[in-house]
Amino acid sequence: MYTARPLPALVHDLRRGFAARPRTVPSKWFYDEAGSALFDAICELPEYYLTRAERAILERHADDIVASAAPDELLEIGSGMARKTGVLLGAITRRTGHARYVPLDISAAALEGSARSIRAVVPGVAVDPLIGDFERDLPKLALSPLSRRRMWALLGSTIGNLDERAAPQLLASIAARMRPGDTFLVGMDLVKDVTVLQRAYDDAAGVTARFNKNMLAVINRGAQADFDLDAWTHRARYDAARARIEMHLESDRPQRVRLRALGATVAFERGERILTEISRKFTHETAASTLRDGGMRLVSWFPAADDGFALALAEAAR
Ligand code: SAH
Ligand code: AVI
Repeated sequence: MYTARPLPALVHDLRRGFAARPRTVPSKWFYDEAGSALFDAICELPEYYLTRAERAILERHADDIVASAAPDELLEIGSGMARKTGVLLGAITRRTGHARYVPLDISAAALEGSARSIRAVVPGVAVDPLIGDFERDLPKLALSPLSRRRMWALLGSTIGNLDERAAPQLLASIAARMRPGDTFLVGMDLVKDVTVLQRAYDDAAGVTARFNKNMLAVINRGAQADFDLDAWTHRARYDAARARIEMHLESDRPQRVRLRALGATVAFERGERILTEISRKFTHETAASTLRDGGMRLVSWFPAADDGFALALAEAAR
C-alpha cells in the first residue's frame, strides 16, 4: 500500500465516502507503513488498555482455547504486528508439536513485522504471510490442505471497526470457508465507563491524533491530494446509544482540497468532520448476536478479569 501511484481502491472509496454525509473514509486506509507503526505505538499507550487486556486473556487461557479443537494452523485476519499471536501459537505448538501460521493484512509493513516477530518468538512455526483486503481476499486464505485443523482469528477488536452490516458480512464469509472442526477466535472490546473509552482514543501524548491524521497523508499519496495535515483536528467521542467510539477529523477552517486522482476539488466548511473510524463496544449479548448474524455460534467466552475485554470462541452454525 506504500506507493505514490494512485490506488484505484482508495479512489473508489473516496468517491463514495466523500459523497456521503458525514463524509467518510474506511478505516483500512490508516494502515500504510507509518500508520501501522503508529498503531503499534498506540498499543503501548497507558490509556489504550485493549492490547494488554487481550494479551492477559491469552496468557491465561491460550491452552484452554486450543484444547478442544486442537488446531495445527492459525489463519489470522488483520494480523498487524502479531504481538500477541505468539502466545496462541505457543499453545498450539505445545499441543501439536508443529504449526502453520498465515497472517493476512492489508499493510505490507505490518505483515513483515508479524512474520519477523513470530519467527523470533515461536521458532519452528511455518509462516506464510498473505497481503490482501479481508473484505475481498478471504478465498486466498482458505487454500490450506484438507488435513489441517484450522483456527481462524480476528484479534484486537478489529471486528468493532466494522458496522452492523459489514461485521456479519465478514463473519459470514469466514463461516462459509470454515470446515468441520475449524474454530474462530475473536477479540471484542466491551462496553465500559465513557471516560476510560474516550481516553483510550484521545491519549495525552497525541499518538492517536497522529494516527488519525496519517490517513490524510495516505490520501495525499494514494489519490494525489493536497490535504494540509495541520488544518485538521482529531476528535474521538463515545456514542453511548450506538455503543461505539467515533473518530473524526475536523476541519479547522473553510478549505478546498484538490484530489487529482478523482479529478475533483472538495470544499470543507470550518468544523466539518470526516468520519474515519467507528470502534464498537460489545456486551456478552451483542457479541453473541453479532456472531449469530454472521452464521456463527458462540462456544466459549473468555472475559478479562475486570470484564473490560473478551475473547469469544465460536464455530460455524450449520
Ligand atoms: N490484530 C492486531 C492488529 C489490529 S490493527 C492486534 O490485535 O493488535 C488492525 C489491523 O487490521 C491492521 O494491521 C490493518 O492493516 C489491518 N486491516 C484493517 N482493515 C483491513 C482490511 N480490510 N483487510 C486486511 N487487513 C486490514
Ligand atoms: C484496530 N482497531 C481495533 C483499533 C481500535 O481500537 O478500534 C484502531 C484504533 N483506533 C484508534 N486507536 C486504535
